Amino acid sequence: MFIYKAGVVGAGAMGAGIAQVISFSGLPVVLKDTDQERVDKGIGMIRKVYQGRVDKGKMTASEMDQKMKLVMGTTSYDDFKDCDLVIEAVFENMKVKHQVFQELEKVLPETAIMASNTSALSISQIASAVKKSDKVIGIHFFNPAPVMKLVEVIPGLQTSTETVDDAVAFVESLRKMPVRVKECAGFLVNRLLLPYLNEAAYAFQEGSAPADEIDKAMRAFGMPMGPFALLDMLGLDVCADVSMILYDSFGPRMKAAEILGEMHKNNRLGVKNGIGFYVYDESKTGDLKPTVDAIQAKTGIKGTPFSPERLVFQMINEAAFCLEENVASPSDIDLAMLAGTGYPQDKGGPLHTADAIGIDVVVEKLKEFSKQLGPRFWPAPILKRMVSANYLGQKTKRGFFNY
Ligand SMILES: NC(=O)c1ccc[n+]([C@@H]2O[C@H](COP(=O)([O-])OP(=O)(O)OC[C@H]3O[C@@H](n4cnc5c(N)ncnc54)[C@H](O)[C@@H]3O)[C@@H](O)[C@H]2O)c1
Repeated sequence: MFIYKAGVVGAGAMGAGIAQVISFSGLPVVLKDTDQERVDKGIGMIRKVYQGRVDKGKMTASEMDQKMKLVMGTTSYDDFKDCDLVIEAVFENMKVKHQVFQELEKVLPETAIMASNTSALSISQIASAVKKSDKVIGIHFFNPAPVMKLVEVIPGLQTSTETVDDAVAFVESLRKMPVRVKECAGFLVNRLLLPYLNEAAYAFQEGSAPADEIDKAMRAFGMPMGPFALLDMLGLDVCADVSMILYDSFGPRMKAAEILGEMHKNNRLGVKNGIGFYVYDESKTGDLKPTVDAIQAKTGIKGTPFSPERLVFQMINEAAFCLEENVASPSDIDLAMLAGTGYPQDKGGPLHTADAIGIDVVVEKLKEFSKQLGPRFWPAPILKRMVSANYLGQKTKRGFFNY
């Protein structure tokens, strides 16, 4: 199916970014929000992205004008009536998303694809609100959409293969990198990233090391930013919500570190309100020590050792669980983590890291962590099966990949 015109519902940070990406590919795009002020703000964000390209000499002012002409702002669903594909990027709330999909179904052509950019809600549940649920799919961009190459494409239970193929082709036409992901809580990237961030939070609340030292160690490992700087950037409220969704789906191994809930409760949301693990607004202060002391008194756990492996092995183990559940192929898992999180390129992704370390060593280390730090480290069954079949990684020339 050829997409001649696309639409985006929600002109916030993500919606505006996605509309910019679509217009940049040369396709007309309708951008809707609830009132004209929000629409104008979204269009202003798009203009800013293009202006940045003009300032850097990457495009001329007249090319920018041509691209901006492809963007049409609206407050009415009627303007979607000739769209072949619409991406919803409204608030992360199931009720609001259901309303939007029902409105879309009323005006869109029967053949149109209805996509959601949700970070963590179920695509199948979103689709349950409409009749043409075979046309509903997750097309999950990363923030900022104009910069990040990776896009997760997530079919729900009812999505047709035709819709999946069309969505993948559409994402490719935007010059982005689509990765097909079987639906699960957190999809692929957030499902692997959150346990890594959560482990950093455990290490912090257990007094293993201060936040800035943990950040420094992970940057030395090759991550573009440390886990606490990232938690603050993502927003502690958003992280608490996603953690809850992951815990609800996967149970105790994804139990959020107490400190994450405390940060949310104490309104330390991160960059967005000036204070999180770090202070961004000098008028805000607050020592985290009493909170940490209270957590340690409650859990009785303190002084556990810190190592970068502690965080990275959480990611590796969850990647193995994903592989076992056919959430994505080994190469797509690694590719998604390189493109979606900035996992160090030279290490090739978490599964390549495991192959380099040796799967037998990974299993032994996970067992040790499991005894020392808690059962959340229990090795994914596939890892033990690999060891028993001599799939040890690079040293036996076969592991998650062949060498
Ligand atoms: N921010 C991120 O890092 C990120 C990354 C990936 C995915 N997402 C997901 O993208 C979606 C949007 O996130 P965001 O950060 O852009 O949120 P945002 O709050 O910046 O923007 C949401 C916009 O949707 C508008 N809106 C709400 N109801 C609407 C309706 N009925 N019709 C039209 N517009 C409506 C709001 O007015 C607002 O402008 C969420 O589902 C979020 O989980 C966010």
